[in-house]
Amino acid sequence: EFSSMSTIERTLSIIKPDAVAKNVIGQIVSRFEQAGLKVVAARLTQLSRAEAERFYAVHSARPFFKDLVDFMISGPVFVQVLEGENAILKNRDLMGATDPKKAEKGTIRADFADSIDANAVHGSDAPETAAVEVAFFFPQIDVHGR
Ligand code: PPS
Repeated sequence: EFSSMSTIERTLSIIKPDAVAKNVIGQIVSRFEQAGLKVVAARLTQLSRAEAERFYAVHSARPFFKDLVDFMISGPVFVQVLEGENAILKNRDLMGATDPKKAEKGTIRADFADSIDANAVHGSDAPETAAVEVAFFFPQIDVHGR
């Protein structure tokens, strides 16, 4: 049946240590909610170095890898699974560009991020990475829902 066609997705969001330290978890989650995304799982957690290195393994050859890992373990992060229509792209749009100097006005990074490494949030960039990243933090959650 065509009636089952749906673009409801789930994606992983991380509120990074800089934003947690600024006490803006609630303001950031509000933006997700106001955009129609639903929080279906969430927890505050402190990443170990090994966990951060595993999460960012795809970037291990990049010159900024050590800085990225050092930053991500510098304090607690708030990890969430967001669900909604086109959740992956919607979350990316809400976040804005990786470099807050290039992020559009009104985006999370434009409003809360300080630099390209302390950039407030992470969001999965595609369905394949969303599946891997949701499973990384929430192995009991089905990325496809229900
Ligand atoms: S790419 O090529 O699109 O994957 O790269 P990008 O999305 O721009 O960046 C990937 C993640 O690395 C972080 N990053 C940095 N950290 C520290 N220093 C520098 N210079 C730097 N450049 C990029 C960036 O914040 C991305 O983190 P996530 O958590 O994936 O958003």
